[in-house]
Amino acid sequence: MSPRGPRSKDARRDADTSGKASLTDEATSVTKDKVDRSEAAEKVPTGTRAEVHAEPGHQHHFTSHFADSGGVDFTGDQETAITEETREELRQIAARYPQARSALLPMLHLVQSVEGRVTPAGIEACAEILEISPAQVSGVATFYTMYKRKPMGKHHVGVCTTALCAVMGGDQILSDLQDHLGVGNDETTEDGQITLEHLECNAACDFAPVMMVNWEFFDNMTPDSAKDLVDRLQADEEVTSTRGARICSWRDAERVLAGFPDGRADEGPTSGPASQLGLTIAQEQGWQAPTPTEQDGAGQEGADADQAGAKAGQEDK
Ligand code: FES
Repeated sequence: MSPRGPRSKDARRDADTSGKASLTDEATSVTKDKVDRSEAAEKVPTGTRAEVHAEPGHQHHFTSHFADSGGVDFTGDQETAITEETREELRQIAARYPQARSALLPMLHLVQSVEGRVTPAGIEACAEILEISPAQVSGVATFYTMYKRKPMGKHHVGVCTTALCAVMGGDQILSDLQDHLGVGNDETTEDGQITLEHLECNAACDFAPVMMVNWEFFDNMTPDSAKDLVDRLQADEEVTSTRGARICSWRDAERVLAGFPDGRADEGPTSGPASQLGLTIAQEQGWQAPTPTEQDGAGQEGADADQAGAKAGQEDK
């Protein structure tokens, strides 16, 4: 039984007859709890996301550390593909916003489209154009998961492993793809074609389990369809998402996210049948949303009732 669960009959009887016994029982429970947590700490392998440390004096603290999660690497080879043309495009993005620094997110996407990741040179270019510090740019670049600090493969393949997709097969798909491609999470295949990453919910739960390639949806996936998909990507075959859009490279997709359209925005529907089911049923049944006039009337009646109540309250005083 859990040390936090109901105590045994004997313990309850002892507690009824002796306060001392009750305290002893609680002390045993607390001690066992500490032991259990110490054992749990030993079971968590190092290098994983979190470890629980039990220290002398029974002080526990939680340490979170992510392998490879350091900031942007400012050491080593700093060769950059950023040109004056890139800088001009960065300036164009900045000019779209009333406050230039609001442009930082799409500017970082443009850096990724040119560099294949967020680089120190990219950070410094953004900082210079926006007249903010490299540390401020770096703080944003290292906060959001769509900004990558390691060189990416030609394609970014994401597998949703949040609750619904996970139980519908997402965990199995990720595991099978890792075996199939010979990579771990957030790693790139030897041929440089695919970077595999587990993703949090893509807001497409009605198509679970869901995958994304360069941010295009692949709905209702299975381990077999997932392996077939990555095989075709590795072979440079033309691939279309299950919603119709042709798949470009991750860098090309990053350029679109920076605000430079590739002309494919209208390829395929933006929502699928599962998302539209409620609308379809409503149309079949002839259901209608309340007209604005009716809504306004209901709102006014409510406001009138509130006012009447407030007035009555004043009069009571
Ligand atoms: S849980 Fe996977 S898309 Fe929502």
